[in-house]
Amino acid sequence: MGVSGWLAERLALPKFRSKYLGKPFPVHSTFFLGEIALFSFVVLVGTGLYLALFYEPSAAAAGGGGGGALPAAYASVLAIDSNPFGALIRRIHHWAAHLMIAAVILHLLRVYFTASYRRPREVNWLLGLVLLGATIGASFAGYLLPYDQFSVTATAIGYGILRSMPWVGATVADFAFAGQFPSAATVPRFFAYHVVWAPLALSALIALHMVILLKQKHTELPARGERPDPAEGRWIHGIPLWPEQAALMGVLFLILVAMLALLAAFLPVHPSAYFGPPSPATPDVKPDWYLLWVYGALRLIPGTLHFRFLGATIGSEAIGAMLVPGLLALVILLVPWLDRAPSSEYYAERAAAGPRRLALGLAVLTLFLALSLAGFGAELGLSVPVLWVITVAAPIAAAWGTHLVVGRRRAETVEMKAPGR
Ligand code: HEM
Repeated sequence: MGVSGWLAERLALPKFRSKYLGKPFPVHSTFFLGEIALFSFVVLVGTGLYLALFYEPSAAAAGGGGGGALPAAYASVLAIDSNPFGALIRRIHHWAAHLMIAAVILHLLRVYFTASYRRPREVNWLLGLVLLGATIGASFAGYLLPYDQFSVTATAIGYGILRSMPWVGATVADFAFAGQFPSAATVPRFFAYHVVWAPLALSALIALHMVILLKQKHTELPARGERPDPAEGRWIHGIPLWPEQAALMGVLFLILVAMLALLAAFLPVHPSAYFGPPSPATPDVKPDWYLLWVYGALRLIPGTLHFRFLGATIGSEAIGAMLVPGLLALVILLVPWLDRAPSSEYYAERAAAGPRRLALGLAVLTLFLALSLAGFGAELGLSVPVLWVITVAAPIAAAWGTHLVVGRRRAETVEMKAPGR
């Protein structure tokens, strides 16, 4: 018996191979979105490990110098940027973060529009939302690390929002930011969140997400026009995990790394040298694209608006950046329980097969876009009342238009099918 035979016998490899490596994977291009999120995370960890060798998590003056010495964190980022390889890795890290957030959001949309959140996949839907929050949280913690004028101002906005939380805002914000921001203790605290807490939490949650996926198996999209009977069992039309699916994933990973390297080679990121070190001046900062809608909601709500509730004053900041996002998050969280249509455990649905789901989904998506547009209201010369009209009318128009178009198409399909019955 050779070494491989000896190992196979000791580790029961043939059983493992037939149980796990032969698992069939349905093939559909949108199923790659979750994998893209996963691979972006791997790239983030790899590039982050390199950056951590040179980054200094301290707001103290570099080299202990006084006078005009720069904060150590800021100076270390300038040093990373001044080295061509360091700059390339920093840019890949930055683009991978954007790609991961975009992939997670698109993956969520795929799961929603194909109704893949239905029983028994509610747990993975909830876990997915926690993953989305953790991904955005990790990104927010990373935002402060260059410790330049822009990132300090942006983080201060986040601090203000957390402080506006009724009853416990000041305690929670001061604990999370290790003191009243800006405080010297915030940089090492956020560094710990960014390089220890967030990667550990994301790794554990992603692993759980995958274990549940393996246990429940992937949903499968029915052929166009086919409506599987919910009570029916199924055959999985797919390819085995080993070697076909693994080879596909390998190719996808290499394409992703190549694309990020190309982006990094040609498109610079967050120019810390241009923003300069922190100073008392407050530049006009906007959040990244995925949080622009919160900024837009804040602009739509008059700064003087407030009400009292159980002894606490709830101001415009808490309404725009906590209450509105909180309510939207609650609706999204409850999606699996709001959709009560009978469904198959095995099959997903094509988006057009559920006109109401499609219309509501597009309405919420349009609401996010309209709120993001409100974030650019001043630059576009749009007044607050006009932005309010857009924010209310655009989602209604999107829902109504979708229902009209998809409803009519479905009616036509049924009519076309009728004579052959
Ligand atoms: C870091 C974030 C995430 C990662 C790395 C991730 C990864 C994955 C992967 C690789 C799959 C299998 C392939 C696929 O369907 O694309 C999957 C399936 C799934 N994910 Fe995620 N996911 C994340 C976030 C989310 C979010 C935000 C949601 C929804 C709120 C979600 C809900 C689901 C569900 C319900 C499935 C099963 C889909 C089915 O069987 O068709 N995931 N995830």
